[in-house]
Amino acid sequence: MIARNSLALLPILALFFSAQTTAQPHDASVAAHQPHYYDIADFDMQGSDITYADHVAPILQRSCLQCHRPGGGGPMSFMSYDEVRPWAPVIMYRTAMRDRMGAMPPWYIEKDIGITDGFESDYSLSDLDLAMIQAWVQNGAPRGNPANEPPPFIVTEGDDWTLGEPDLVLVGPEKIRPAVAPDWWGDLGIVPTGLTEDRYVQSIEVKEFNDIPDDLGSSTVGGRYIWHHMTYSSGILSEDGTYILPESRVGWPIHEVGRNADQFADSAGRLLQANSALHLNAAHMHSNGRETTGHLEFGIKFFPIGYKPKYTTRGPRTGNGIDLDVLPGRPNQELRNSVILQEHTKIMAFEPHLHAPGVRMCLEAIWGHNVFTLNCVGYDHNWVKQYIYKEDKAPLLPKGTILQTIAYMDTSAANPNLADPRNWAGGGRRSVSNMFIDLGYSVTMTEEQFQEEMAARRETLADRNEYDVGCPLCWAPVPEYDLAGGSED
Ligand code: HEC
Repeated sequence: MIARNSLALLPILALFFSAQTTAQPHDASVAAHQPHYYDIADFDMQGSDITYADHVAPILQRSCLQCHRPGGGGPMSFMSYDEVRPWAPVIMYRTAMRDRMGAMPPWYIEKDIGITDGFESDYSLSDLDLAMIQAWVQNGAPRGNPANEPPPFIVTEGDDWTLGEPDLVLVGPEKIRPAVAPDWWGDLGIVPTGLTEDRYVQSIEVKEFNDIPDDLGSSTVGGRYIWHHMTYSSGILSEDGTYILPESRVGWPIHEVGRNADQFADSAGRLLQANSALHLNAAHMHSNGRETTGHLEFGIKFFPIGYKPKYTTRGPRTGNGIDLDVLPGRPNQELRNSVILQEHTKIMAFEPHLHAPGVRMCLEAIWGHNVFTLNCVGYDHNWVKQYIYKEDKAPLLPKGTILQTIAYMDTSAANPNLADPRNWAGGGRRSVSNMFIDLGYSVTMTEEQFQEEMAARRETLADRNEYDVGCPLCWAPVPEYDLAGGSED
């Protein structure tokens, strides 16, 4: 009886398993995360030669000290050998996670797939950096000759801004959060820019300044801040200066705790008008266990006066904030989302946005029979990060491309970010519900601009054997018609 029943089930089981293997080719589950270990001998170096002074201190200065210094937001300072030494084994462990939840520095681009070396302000560690850190720790983390240490990392006023001293700093209203209170969500009003002419913004960085002492460590990103995140826009002030004229509204990328600053490409600066104001329309604030008074500052750098952006029309985003179905207690759930590009499109930034179950997101371009994986990124909901493509590496996608994002969710108990692995969760704004959006942005190109961009990109490729994953038509024959749209004579 029993045997016959299970035999009858076999074909169904076979179907079930084959569907599983095609739908989930990548094991992104937290339990499967592997550290990235390297052998220093593969880099023609001797492990015993690696010292703090010669090799490790420069890595820390480049990739860690912006946060791991007094007042920098990291839980401990790595300014000197004595401060670093006790952390050596933990440094090796956290850096070897590389692109997975928990990795340091927080930057999760997978380096073995898609567009590599294509991002602005990339402070991630190379294979050699990791090999050196690992050899150094395994050899007892020696200091080496202190005379060889790089000049000390000097913290100046401007270092509060990772992109350097801004041209304009706008200051938001001061707010107090009690030590313990429910989260607060609301409109914080407007902040006039005082601009007397239109200016285009090259970068904008939002920072919270508060009265939490610099030396008060915190083991979470949010422990030192009261703003969880905030969406804001800008526009021209009404005559009485109390609101923004709706038709003049310009959207800005979101501010989130732990997120990196926004940089706009030379071709796509964003407008801040004369007589404008920021509207801090939706702030989410939280209590951190200590009564805290703080405010946000917006550090803005402008393009020179007279600058005009080449691209002003935004392309679509992929995302599904509503229709999500995330099962409880299951690693490796794969969700897909796509949009068909109606215009030639240049992808300027990729910003995976998931909630606590999120562990990975990939961005793919499907063109004809080919699927191009543009990038895959690990995800840690403690750190939301954006990845801004360098202008000459940004994907150039023809109209008709299917742009697809794939999200990987892990609701097993192995995911430390999860409040409760037992419940089903759909889409929603709270972190216990889900989101699946690419918050990055793209611009649309005319046919002429598209051909121009591809011609420039071809110049950077050695020959037809060199292949640019973000540019499926780079080597396609250029159509022979008048691109400027003029007449033939
Ligand atoms: C953008 C800011 C930032 C950068 C850059 C950064 N860290 Fe961190 N680091 C943090 C914060 C905040 C935490 C605590 C929260 C967490 O663990 O995610 C942390 C935690 C750590 C920890 C764990 C401490 C513990 O208590 O176990 C180690 C080790 C560490 N960082 C090492 C590094 C190293 C090494 C680098 C550079 C290669 C680096 N970090 C770059 C902000 C940063």
